[in-house]
Amino acid sequence: MLKNSDGFVSGEIFCKELNISRQAIWKNINSLKKDGYDIESVKGKGYILRSDEGILGSAGITSLLEGKAIRYRIEYTESIDSTNKALIKKAYTTDAENMVLIADHQTSGLGRRGRSFYSPAKESIYMSILLRPKIDPGSVSCITLVAAMAVCKALKKSLNKSGYKEAAKRIGIKWPNDIWIGEKKLCGILTQMSCESDYITYVVTGIGINVNNKVFSDELKSIATSLFMETNQNFDRQSIIADILEAFAEYYDIFLADKSMKSLMVDYDDNLINKSKEVLVYGGLVEEIEPDSVRRGKARGIDIDGALLVDMYDTKKTERIIAGEVSIRNT
Ligand code: BTN
Repeated sequence: MLKNSDGFVSGEIFCKELNISRQAIWKNINSLKKDGYDIESVKGKGYILRSDEGILGSAGITSLLEGKAIRYRIEYTESIDSTNKALIKKAYTTDAENMVLIADHQTSGLGRRGRSFYSPAKESIYMSILLRPKIDPGSVSCITLVAAMAVCKALKKSLNKSGYKEAAKRIGIKWPNDIWIGEKKLCGILTQMSCESDYITYVVTGIGINVNNKVFSDELKSIATSLFMETNQNFDRQSIIADILEAFAEYYDIFLADKSMKSLMVDYDDNLINKSKEVLVYGGLVEEIEPDSVRRGKARGIDIDGALLVDMYDTKKTERIIAGEVSIRNT
């Protein structure tokens, strides 16, 4: 209510709208202040939100959740080793589902293929979602694609809302699940799972986004960028997270109903930066080709299982490139 109001909100209005006591309001205001919200109270006028810049917290994010995203329970922690690792522990010790863990800082963020993920404090988004889908374990890789679509949609929305329409147009998915802006990476996604034969115990999808980062190390700066670096403006991480969760819930339900990318592949391909581009295919085993060779082809888009279809120049065939087995790069 404070966020949506331009001026003061009186205690009386809070009591009426929220059906809670004056004492409860006072307690809530104090807990928001502790989270970092700059709230001023003036006798006879009520409360006013002076600033919420840079804040990250479970109350703030929960209050922004809309539509299907209200199913998510948000947990926030200032610093943690890795939000993925922590949710995996939760997955083994509880029956929690649709839990979202958000951290302001990770001390040992995980990237794909055993790499580490650079996770400085107060600038980026580190979030993991705990899911328990009743699907074939072989389809889990599609959840990463679904998450990439959700991130792409939310980041475009944020940029468009702030007037950066050109930057929004340059955002896209690098198959299978990185989000790029132009030639640089903005977001990485790591999905981890555990299953017993055909039964999935848990899926944890972790999303790391460079939002308000001002600098990167020499090593990273040629390959990574942030929303700030593209626009010279800070973005509200809480709104981005809420938008991601809303889009993710929508896409995820469609994926679960189809148990494939059938209804999502056109939308995915619309955001695919590799589409109709020449790509280099690294690794993988194709019978007639040397293992670990680098091959060229033209990417067409994904199929209903999320594999990338590439018209290979050497074999003159359309091959299904499966995530995890090979990596691709635009030429
Ligand atoms: C990659 O690009 O290699 C994937 C990076 C995934 C990073 C996110 S940040 C939140 C979650 N917790 C982690 O430890 N990793 C993922």
